[in-house]
Amino acid sequence: MLPADPKEDDAVSESTRDAPADPESGPSADVLVIFGITGDLARVMTFRSLYRLERRGLLTCPIVGVAVDDWTLDHLVDRARTSIVATGEVLDEEVFARLTARLSYVQGDFAEASTYTRVGAAIEGTATPVFYLEIPPFLFATVIKGLADAGLTASARVVVEKPFGHDQDSAHALAMELHQYVDESQLYRIDHYLGKMGVEEILFLRFANRLLEPVWNSNHVESVHITMAEEFGVDGRGRFYEPVGALRDVVVNHLMQVVAVAAMEPPAGGTPRDFKDAVTTIFRAIRPADPSTYVRGQYDGYLTVDGVAPDSTTETYVALRLDIENWRWSGVPFFIRAGKGLPLTQTEIRLVFKHAPQLGFAVAARRTQPNQLVIRLDPSTGVQMVLDARRADATHAAPIELDVTFAEMGGEGATPYEVLLHAAMVGRDARFTRQDAIEECWRIMQPLLDSPPPLHVYPRGSWGPEAADAMVEDHGGWYAPWLAPQASHPTAG
Ligand code: BG6
Repeated sequence: MLPADPKEDDAVSESTRDAPADPESGPSADVLVIFGITGDLARVMTFRSLYRLERRGLLTCPIVGVAVDDWTLDHLVDRARTSIVATGEVLDEEVFARLTARLSYVQGDFAEASTYTRVGAAIEGTATPVFYLEIPPFLFATVIKGLADAGLTASARVVVEKPFGHDQDSAHALAMELHQYVDESQLYRIDHYLGKMGVEEILFLRFANRLLEPVWNSNHVESVHITMAEEFGVDGRGRFYEPVGALRDVVVNHLMQVVAVAAMEPPAGGTPRDFKDAVTTIFRAIRPADPSTYVRGQYDGYLTVDGVAPDSTTETYVALRLDIENWRWSGVPFFIRAGKGLPLTQTEIRLVFKHAPQLGFAVAARRTQPNQLVIRLDPSTGVQMVLDARRADATHAAPIELDVTFAEMGGEGATPYEVLLHAAMVGRDARFTRQDAIEECWRIMQPLLDSPPPLHVYPRGSWGPEAADAMVEDHGGWYAPWLAPQASHPTAG
């Protein structure tokens, strides 16, 4: 199981937990070096996460920003301030001053050796640097080679952002390239879904409850439905999104993490390796996805987005089916749908259980909707059970909903990037994806990339192409998500 992460105001117990907790965590970082600190991801996610970590007393080292822009330190501090405020945080000046006191800036072209000499000088005397590469993947090797040539990688961790390849072969080739300079144990690949409370919640619910684990299998579950709906489109991100599309953007990575925690066996122990082995094992049991149960859609209006080709066939919606061949899941389809330009923003996983037998007496004489267990991941974490019960307004058993939103019970917890940056700094690598799991996910999706079905255009604000309905026809259709209050939601990298 993923080692637990802190809630707000839990800094002391968390620091205590960090130190000896898992045998595969390393020494704490003594410097964090952020390549690409002047870019978009830093603006939207990183400064806010660092600020929140500082507020909780979890930042302990200097931070060096590196970018090609000719910025002064004052400029960087200004950017940090406006970025944090823009995310809706109420700035505590004292916390902000502590954060900015850690900051320094190195200007440099990533292709020039002199940049790494200057980085080396800025981090001189440190033993455990963490290099965070908030840069496009085609620059990963350049920067890591630059760091290695400057003798800076021996005891370093290198944190990289998706995408990790664009298909099975390129994912493998990227890893081979990076492994020339650092080994796998030094690479911390971010999938921000691994920092989400809801993903961890699935593991806890499954394996901490005798009530749930015995029914969490093909004896009782009829199908599993994962929905990642996003109301917004790709405006402002056309150039990034156009060569990527929904399958590569959110399914092969984020939603496969959800599949993993929902379908895997309990990790054999508490180390990151135990968790990653369990993830890879379940991925290995998933059959290559079948293009005949794959639907691609594009919202009407996508073609006018800046950076999008006028005749683009990039999908902004996908629906697909996965089948897992093992004792726990054989015969239980996992349906995944993900799309932009849908009616609302919400991510959930729903276990739909088999029907109760139709008994001859009134309690269950009517075929009601099946029991369901919903775990909502976004925009807030929650759990809902749909059961049949006696209701005053019905003569037969009728559905009731039992639910809890975790913000009302224990709080929402830290944001994914806080969780992940902190994990990278304390060397807790369970939170990061391992190369074998990444290649397995591409293997599963590769047939869909090789034989993409034709695209269906769908109206913005609809639930996507009707063509996707056929695949779930015999499984109760697509379920309307369990609604959470909608909040504005900064988009991750
Ligand atoms: C990002 C994708 O990785 O994840 C975005 O590039 C997507 O397109 C985002 O919107 C979703 O993340 P979250 O945390 O908002 O569900």
